Amino acid sequence: MTDDALTAIINLDLPGATISRHVYGHFAEHLGRCIYGGFWVGEDSEIPNEGGIRLDVVEALKALSIPNLRWPGGCFADDYHWRDGIGPREDRPRMVNSHWGDVVEDNSFGTHEFMQLCEMLGADPYVNGNVGSGTVQEMSEWVEYLTRGDESPMATLRRANGRDEPWRVPFFGIGNEAWGCGGNMTADSYAALARQYGTYVRNHGDNVVYKIAAGANVDDYRWTETLMKELNCLGCTRQPAGFFQGLSLHYYTHSGAWETKGSATDFDTDDYYATMRNARRIEELVAGHAAVMDCYDPQRRVGLVVDEWGTWFDVEPGTNPGFLYQQNTLRDALVASVHFDVFHAFADRISMANIAQTVNVLQAMVLTDPDTGALVLTPSYHVFAMNVGHHDASTLAVSLKGELPTREVAGGELSLVSASASTTDTSALVSLSNLDAGHARTIVLDLRGRDVTEFSARVLTAPTLQTHNTPQAPDAVAPAAHDGVRAHARGLEVDLPAHSYVTVSLALA
Ligand code: AHR
Repeated sequence: MTDDALTAIINLDLPGATISRHVYGHFAEHLGRCIYGGFWVGEDSEIPNEGGIRLDVVEALKALSIPNLRWPGGCFADDYHWRDGIGPREDRPRMVNSHWGDVVEDNSFGTHEFMQLCEMLGADPYVNGNVGSGTVQEMSEWVEYLTRGDESPMATLRRANGRDEPWRVPFFGIGNEAWGCGGNMTADSYAALARQYGTYVRNHGDNVVYKIAAGANVDDYRWTETLMKELNCLGCTRQPAGFFQGLSLHYYTHSGAWETKGSATDFDTDDYYATMRNARRIEELVAGHAAVMDCYDPQRRVGLVVDEWGTWFDVEPGTNPGFLYQQNTLRDALVASVHFDVFHAFADRISMANIAQTVNVLQAMVLTDPDTGALVLTPSYHVFAMNVGHHDASTLAVSLKGELPTREVAGGELSLVSASASTTDTSALVSLSNLDAGHARTIVLDLRGRDVTEFSARVLTAPTLQTHNTPQAPDAVAPAAHDGVRAHARGLEVDLPAHSYVTVSLALA
């Protein structure tokens, strides 16, 4: 091996923080065809369902070991009044979904339907409450309705609606994007409300709620600081106040600016690199928000919750602009893989992340055809599937050295290789992304500290970056066994095809 060969040094015997499985979380909003037509088709549908919930979608997501699901929004959350979504469906009031297509919502998917969905998925519910247009009492009573077991007024109401046992709700959001659609508040005014509303999100019985305050957009570090100040004083090392345990961050990847998001499928190589540069910005953002949080919470008790992330491109031509339906190509898969590398590296601060959104909206896992009902797994889905081995594993630092390929993009430098790794007692998983659109690469894995007894690899790539899956070609982008891995004096040598994502699984002695 020459000294300048591209090398990833991994100390297999130095595990770091646990990568919470919850960074592989999901998000389902009442938006376009995410809930209606996506998760929910109703009991009378010809599409196989249980209680109105699509079985094929559930099966696909269970294969990802989906850890949690955030609902009902997003912006919709701060318009949503939960009492409209309980009781007999024919009696439920209607409302206007002002944010998303200005369509009439009939509330046929409500609290009981969502909790049934979570039970079918084996996922933890992450319920997002309404601060923007809801009351403290309304939020407090929703939590009581969901989680209380005795004869309290809300528990009694839940029983009257057919559910005896309380549910477990481990995650609850105190509003959403309070700086924007959630009320256009200042950081200071929201921070006061987060304390107030958070006070009334109570632990009933043995249900313990991890409360998540509505955090910053992109690089609004002042927002994060204002919220952290509510929990602790600068430089103090005592326990942060318990108004909330998590603070969110939202960051979307576009090809251009917000105004020029670009097409999901019709893009050129420059658009691709611009997208990847925007995607890799997640590292700068997480590092920035984490640094602010460190000042007020040096022991990292408060979690950074990236509860909206992913690509946001122009809607598919001919679809409702308010429904945010976009195709999903190999480019989206690489956007996902580089985000996960950052989430793994910051495992000691990031407690959860939620891709936006699971079905038929933005960077979806699953797309369903509105006419035929056919279901397609997206390239992004496959990255989540290839990464299941990282769930709750311990992060391993990966140091890249040698000739690290880079490219100048929009006056900045884009690193073309991204990597992360994790370990359990007996195994390790290494993730490798080659973002180079045109060149294959070989990388040496310099594996130190433990013996590797077996290895295998998988690769996700396609003839072009624009390749995507459709009902006619559902496996145009699908993972395959990768035979481009060889023993090497330092560990292993791995071939990375152009524009590819590779995972290497190691058995450890
Ligand atoms: O995910 C779509 C929207 O993006 C969400 O409703 C909102 O929170 C964000 O602006």
